[in-house]
Amino acid sequence: MELPHHVGLLVKRIGVTGGTLCRTLTTACRAHRLPVRSSGRRSLAARYSSAASGSACKALLYRNHGDPAQVVQLESVELPVLDERSVLVKMLAAPINPSDINMVQGTYAILPDLPAVGGNEGVGVVMEVGSQVTNLRAGDWVIPRDAGLGTWRTAAVFSEEVLTPVANDIPLLSAATLGVNPCTAFRMLSDFETLKPGDTVIQNAANSGVGQAVIQIAAARGIHTINVVRDRPDLQKLTEKMHAMGAGHVIKEETLRKPEMKELFKKVPRPKLALNGVGGKSATELLRHLQAGGTMVTYGGMSKQPVTVPVSALIFKDVKVRGFWVSQWKRDHAHDRGALQDMLAQLCDLIREGKLTAPACTEVHLQDHTHALDNAMKPFISTKQVLVM
Ligand SMILES: NC(=O)c1ccc[n+]([C@@H]2O[C@H](COP(=O)([O-])OP(=O)(O)OC[C@H]3O[C@@H](n4cnc5c(N)ncnc54)[C@H](OP(=O)(O)O)[C@@H]3O)[C@@H](O)[C@H]2O)c1
Repeated sequence: MELPHHVGLLVKRIGVTGGTLCRTLTTACRAHRLPVRSSGRRSLAARYSSAASGSACKALLYRNHGDPAQVVQLESVELPVLDERSVLVKMLAAPINPSDINMVQGTYAILPDLPAVGGNEGVGVVMEVGSQVTNLRAGDWVIPRDAGLGTWRTAAVFSEEVLTPVANDIPLLSAATLGVNPCTAFRMLSDFETLKPGDTVIQNAANSGVGQAVIQIAAARGIHTINVVRDRPDLQKLTEKMHAMGAGHVIKEETLRKPEMKELFKKVPRPKLALNGVGGKSATELLRHLQAGGTMVTYGGMSKQPVTVPVSALIFKDVKVRGFWVSQWKRDHAHDRGALQDMLAQLCDLIREGKLTAPACTEVHLQDHTHALDNAMKPFISTKQVLVM
């Protein structure tokens, strides 16, 4: 597979001072095909300014793939000088998402050359712009346009074109978590089935960041949701929280296999759309409840189990089995800035109207990253770890 936007990342070691390894992260600022690594994966696209300066920032860097709590370290990273098309950004907050963890572990579809700064999402404020920068001004809030920028850091010099501005009148945590999960939810609810008010969507991992955005965007559109979560000691509390954000029905994984489902489908129509972030048995059960001709979109595989499609679902119900990756959507729309801006504007409107809130978050200082990385991998934690700078 050829990735359309790439700039190779060259990490150049320049010296060790006072026990701190300082590095200058430089890139060629031209789009070119990424080299294929021995693993067969392509290295990650990222752009930085190319000249070196003396100022530094703190960043969560990893030199090897492995257990995130072991391999990620807080280090000083030298910042390049601002060139005419780059901007100096002070990072404000950046979440730890499952894909960030998988990148550090070395199991994600795209991987940066090492060493790399972790994090693909987050919000920063523009401090200074180069003389040729046209779309951004000091004071603007910005989020990455694509994966791979390395957001777990206090500051960065980025090429203007890898950033997109975001409204700064929304809550900080909403902005920090806007670019991946709400965009994924928005696209999956818009691009696969024509959903009308009164239609139904079923989803697993419904308490995830994506799931919470699905619940809220669907509710704003008058679409019923059936939300599947894993059983847990505090299920009642979780269910109440999910109802409060607009979840029509919250059920346990086990319920998918029980006669109670028949009763449920007396109250709401069978789903036209199923959203699968888990895989394995959970995905198969979602499929069984789809209406004829409906679509299941797989966007995550938290159980690390493959998706098995019953033959009968294909033959007798003609269900469509699809996949979605928001990074690919952003790349496919890289030359249509309006598409991303329009979606972000609609999401920000929902935020201002109180219809879309950030997922439950735990704010963690950069220096407490080990604890945050550990927590991000724990089951039933039901809160997004967000690094604050
Ligand atoms: N394709 C895309 O474009 C795209 C975009 C965004 C996210 N994603 C993917 O979507 C998934 C969710 O991301 P997120 O940021 O929303 O996650 P998150 O907020 O960190 O939540 C993780 C979710 O996964 C569930 N989970 C973890 N292990 C599980 C297992 N073994 N079986 C069933 N459920 C399990 C958790 O349930 P408990 O509360 O029960 O632990 C929780 O609901 C990830 O796989 C992520 O990579 C994909």
